[in-house]
Amino acid sequence: MTLPRKVKIVEVGPRDGLQNEKQVVPAAVKIELIERLGAAGLRAIEATAFVSPKWVPQMGDNAEVMAGIKRRSGVSYPALVPNLKGFEQALAAGVEEVAVFGAASEAFSQKNTNCSVAESLERFRPVVDAARRNNIRVRGYVSCVLGCPYQGEVAPEAVAGVAQALADMGCYEISLGDTIGVGTPGRTRRMLDAVMRRVPVERLAGHYHDTYGQALANIYASLEMGVAVFDASVAGLGGCPYAAGASGNVATEDVVYLMNGLGIETGIDLDRLVEAGAYICAELGREPASKVARALMAKKRKQ
Ligand code: HMG
Ligand code: MG
Repeated sequence: MTLPRKVKIVEVGPRDGLQNEKQVVPAAVKIELIERLGAAGLRAIEATAFVSPKWVPQMGDNAEVMAGIKRRSGVSYPALVPNLKGFEQALAAGVEEVAVFGAASEAFSQKNTNCSVAESLERFRPVVDAARRNNIRVRGYVSCVLGCPYQGEVAPEAVAGVAQALADMGCYEISLGDTIGVGTPGRTRRMLDAVMRRVPVERLAGHYHDTYGQALANIYASLEMGVAVFDASVAGLGGCPYAAGASGNVATEDVVYLMNGLGIETGIDLDRLVEAGAYICAELGREPASKVARALMAKKRKQ
């Protein structure tokens, strides 16, 4: 068994994290956070979402955020889009990469996007076609891959079906979301095993929320199966507005510390990342959820 030598981390804090914060964070703070994340070495930073502001008011400043980012060369700043309307707004805001999001659970699809799984896939088709015409890359998310807050169990085959549909449509990468953070390594392995029969592992990413504290274990299980792309949120920001009790994504600091310990390259400067997390946490008036960040900040205070 060999682990990947390099791992790509997709920073989702400014979108997945901040979409679930109670207070609406000013666009200028989001722009500064994105700047600091880029300076820490992140090469993919999901910046915002072009979704309905009635559904997710925290992302209502999407165009302002996109306009304010000082783009670094070699860094992508994808935005989430649920439909063609969102895509057109993203295009007008100068986005170069978008992400569409479907679910492996019917109940979650209805609550999150007001349509069935099949209807959501039909909505993505014109988005992917329009993106192709405009040379815009499309990433695809599958939510609820290890459990659903409404229907409970989700079959690995259901995840594989949606992942394959997104890959066949033209999504370059499929991010597998444990939206409510209930998965454990055994279930992660079974899910990945089913998905990898239909989509090559090089095109898969793990997106694990940390509600039950299993995200790092799930990442390790995924690494062992060859997955080399992981989504994470600085300071462990966030959750999901349609999944009660779900906590944020695994903290980026914790993932980087794990990879450093395993000798896996990420290209990320952990100290600068911790500082970026401290910046946004000060703005939000709370401590980082990342254990690594808390340990390193305590050590620094003592010095
Ligand atoms: P709907 O209400 O069914 O849509 O929402 P509609 O087509 O009937 O339109 C209703 C109104 O919304 C209309 O405006 C539209 O113009 C407007 P009105 O006439 O009432 O003034 N509208 C929009 N406005 C702005 N941007 C748009 C847009 N589309 C329609 N793109 C819709 C359907 C999909 C829009 C809605 O359900 C929605 O925005 N959902 C987004 C939910 C969301 O953002 N969830 C969180 C992200 S997913 C996630 O976090 C999971 C992930 O991290 C992976 C994981 O963890 O598993 C990715
Ligand atoms: Mg998520």
